[in-house]
Amino acid sequence: MMKIFGKVAAIVAGSALVATAAFAEDRKSYPAPKDHPLSEIISGYEFRTPETRALQDDDFENPAYILLDLGAELWSTADGAAGKSCASCHGDAAESMKGIGASFPKWSKERNKAITVEQQINICREEQMQADTWKWTKDPNMLGMTIFVKNQSRGMPIVLDNSPEMETVRKLGEEVYYTRYGQLDMSCANCHEDYYGNYIRADMLSQGQINGFPTYRLKWNGVGSTHRRFKGCMKNIRANPFKPQGEEFTALEAYMMYRAVGLPIETPSVRN
Ligand code: HEC
Ligand code: HEC
Repeated sequence: MMKIFGKVAAIVAGSALVATAAFAEDRKSYPAPKDHPLSEIISGYEFRTPETRALQDDDFENPAYILLDLGAELWSTADGAAGKSCASCHGDAAESMKGIGASFPKWSKERNKAITVEQQINICREEQMQADTWKWTKDPNMLGMTIFVKNQSRGMPIVLDNSPEMETVRKLGEEVYYTRYGQLDMSCANCHEDYYGNYIRADMLSQGQINGFPTYRLKWNGVGSTHRRFKGCMKNIRANPFKPQGEEFTALEAYMMYRAVGLPIETPSVRN
């Protein structure tokens, strides 16, 4: 344990690492299922300051709502050679998109692989609308639409697709989660499983849950996707990140839905 903690300390080179058990008793947690790696499942929201939480709590203050509104507008705007909008086929998103954000990534039989919400959006744009695809991580249209789709599940608990195909995908994701990468030779678990609730520099480590993505990050001064965050964490341990929406990060996302099972969707969340 101490050895790993030394590596965490190495990242914050020179700055104080406060290794106190800073657990607040009132941190809302959800019971973990049998054999789950965590004893309790806690949203990243619970680790943030009252100021940051207040921004998320108030839909009028939450800066990500600009992109949510953009997504809502795009939903019913025709685009591409087929002259269709999302609404042409899916109607009212409050009905048709309910539960999507709480259950993706999902197995696609036609493609014989797991797909994320972002990939599904581009599949529909390309195949159904004959429209250009959007870029994965920073395109405001992609972020806005992803937020809009996932927001239809806000408050709904994450549920798992228990198909054998998705079990296999999650196995790969689990492997990625526990593999040590980079110059610092660390795994996701070294920080988010072993040390959540402890400070690393000014940041309190959370369980690294993904129930709030895409998220508005004060540090980014903007909204970012799940895979952008994965990339950032890999860069912090001086590792070469996997490709956004590639096989490894998609599998990692699927596995992290298991780590978050039962947590309500918060999209769009606000983090520091
Ligand atoms: C011409 C009709 C059509 C249009 C336009 C269309 N879709 Fe789809 N969409 C489908 C069909 C058919 C499926 C199911 C098969 C598949 O995945 O390709 C689907 C599936 C989906 C799913 C997964 C639903 C589930 O229950 O798993 C999502 C999410 C989605 N579409 C979002 C969108 C968004 C966002 C847009 C606009 C950018 C859009 N679609 C445009 C026809 C369409
Ligand atoms: C050196 C420690 C460290 C490692 C290793 C690390 N992270 Fe993080 N991660 C952080 C810090 C610090 C934050 C910001 C505070 C927080 O939410 O924990 C963070 C935040 C996150 C968040 C955002 C949580 C939220 O609620 O918005 C996710 C998701 C995440 N990490 C995933 C990962 C994944 C996946 C890996 C492995 C590829 C990983 N992290 C590896 C330090 C780490």
